[in-house]
Amino acid sequence: MSQSQVVVNPLQEGLRSERAGEPCAMVILGAHGDLTKRKLLPALYALFTQDLLPPGFCVVGLSRTQMTDEQFRTSMEESIHKYASDLKFDNESWERFASCVYYRSANFGSPGGFGELPALLSELETKHGTRGNNVFYCSTSPSLYMSIVDRISESGLGTRKAGTNAPWPRIIVEKPFGTNLETALELDEHIHSAFAESQVFRIDHYLGKETVQNIMVLRFANAIFEPLWNRNHIDHIQITNAETLGVEGRGSYYEEAGNMRDMIQNHMLQLVALTAMEPPISMDAEATRDEKAKVMRAMRPVDLNNIDKYVVRGQYTKGWINGQEVPGYREEKDVSPTSTTETFTALKLYIDNWRWAGVPFYVRSGKRLAKSVTEIAIEFKKAPLKLFAQSFGEDEDAFGPNVLVLNIQPDEGISLKFATKQPGPVTRLRWLSMDFKYGTAFGVRSPSAYERLVHDCIMGDSTLFARTDFVESSWKLISPILDKWQDPDCPPLDEYPSGSWGPESSDRLLGAEGRKWRLL
Ligand SMILES: NC(=O)c1ccc[n+]([C@@H]2O[C@H](COP(=O)([O-])OP(=O)(O)OC[C@H]3O[C@@H](n4cnc5c(N)ncnc54)[C@H](OP(=O)(O)O)[C@@H]3O)[C@@H](O)[C@H]2O)c1
Repeated sequence: MSQSQVVVNPLQEGLRSERAGEPCAMVILGAHGDLTKRKLLPALYALFTQDLLPPGFCVVGLSRTQMTDEQFRTSMEESIHKYASDLKFDNESWERFASCVYYRSANFGSPGGFGELPALLSELETKHGTRGNNVFYCSTSPSLYMSIVDRISESGLGTRKAGTNAPWPRIIVEKPFGTNLETALELDEHIHSAFAESQVFRIDHYLGKETVQNIMVLRFANAIFEPLWNRNHIDHIQITNAETLGVEGRGSYYEEAGNMRDMIQNHMLQLVALTAMEPPISMDAEATRDEKAKVMRAMRPVDLNNIDKYVVRGQYTKGWINGQEVPGYREEKDVSPTSTTETFTALKLYIDNWRWAGVPFYVRSGKRLAKSVTEIAIEFKKAPLKLFAQSFGEDEDAFGPNVLVLNIQPDEGISLKFATKQPGPVTRLRWLSMDFKYGTAFGVRSPSAYERLVHDCIMGDSTLFARTDFVESSWKLISPILDKWQDPDCPPLDEYPSGSWGPESSDRLLGAEGRKWRLL
């Protein structure tokens, strides 16, 4: 696929020349699904319009539904209009992109289910110059991942012989990666039967977000933060992922996953690791992932005998969101009326290493909360404020501490809260915040997380993907909690009304130590 006459923002010129990937075919397994429509095809088209796809490239969609190439292209064009309105669409570039998009019906669950895919891929190798390199994107229910690997192996499309010019296969695996430690290890073993670890890209779309990538830049490219980034200056860290949405018709998926598997095991622990990691020796994928893995290894297992002091789980009941009455979780479609699936989790975690000893990391995530927001808040230790006592009387608690907030969504940016003097003849303190917002600061469109990650995979850069040891240690932390929740002696699930900030027990998790969740 070649792209000429494309208007590229000058700010992206450097990026463009630096990052031309190797030719390949992107094979989307589950191409009739929601993720392909909402994220994957828009991301690929966005990369095409920025000239960020390799010169030899094509897309092959596979799923059960019967469709012609033309029908698939039309439905993808409609999806781009519907879900990617921020993209500049023009018919001429779409036609050129669409001429490299193909579709075949397949059944991943049965032997031979890839049908004519191997023949099609070799035809496309000649037609589009893909050099036999294939990226397999698993965009189906996780229960099919092992069968997909079987289909890849039986078609001879898995690991190739070593050699610099030998064609390569890569596989992108969507979350959730396993449902507990045992199934994650089993899946890993199966994938490794057909792919080397360097060919496996476990996607965590949080890592594709600009602010998340900016955590490393903020910490390691600025001299002012890193000296303070430790137990001597930081009181605690709060990481919040709040959604006003409920399960949105995905009740059957959520019943099996729950919030812990859906959000904490992957996205939230990645955010903890990025916030807590040591500086890597280089920006190389392995160096960065080594440091994240060390954080996970230093994470203290939750004391299951006192689980209520470390973990809270909740489930939403009916309530009000943005002036609308919404049903409780148990009233949602495909959800059991007696379900004990958690839609909210809060945890207190400790990282037992030199930098973080004694500093709690409070992590909360939930659905149907009061507001949709994801952020990492670094709360520093308070300055002694006695000097300004007359400014606020006895209510010293009303002031401080300094907080550095990394806003991940919806408004990606950074803010720092600090004390200032209110203008006037007497010294009165005011807390203000210094804000930086991605949307306004650069005046360019930020790439979507999938755009960034799909491109990185085509480039063979796995820095922003989860490595096997990270996944394993995250399950080692989470699996015992999930098992304990099955124990009849375990404190039960707490309810919370939709539109609130979760169950009261979540406030007690911090309150017991004289701290509070931030008001967002
Ligand atoms: N949707 C999102 O926004 C989102 C976000 C983050 C992560 N994810 C993850 O991405 C993955 C895909 O999610 P999704 O929402 O796109 O799922 P989905 O809408 O249910 O789509 C699943 C796809 O798999 C195909 N499929 C199912 N069984 C098949 C079989 N035996 N053989 C061939 N194809 C088969 C379906 O084909 P037919 O329709 O033709 O039957 C469909 O195209 C999941 O792991 C999910 O957790 C999704």
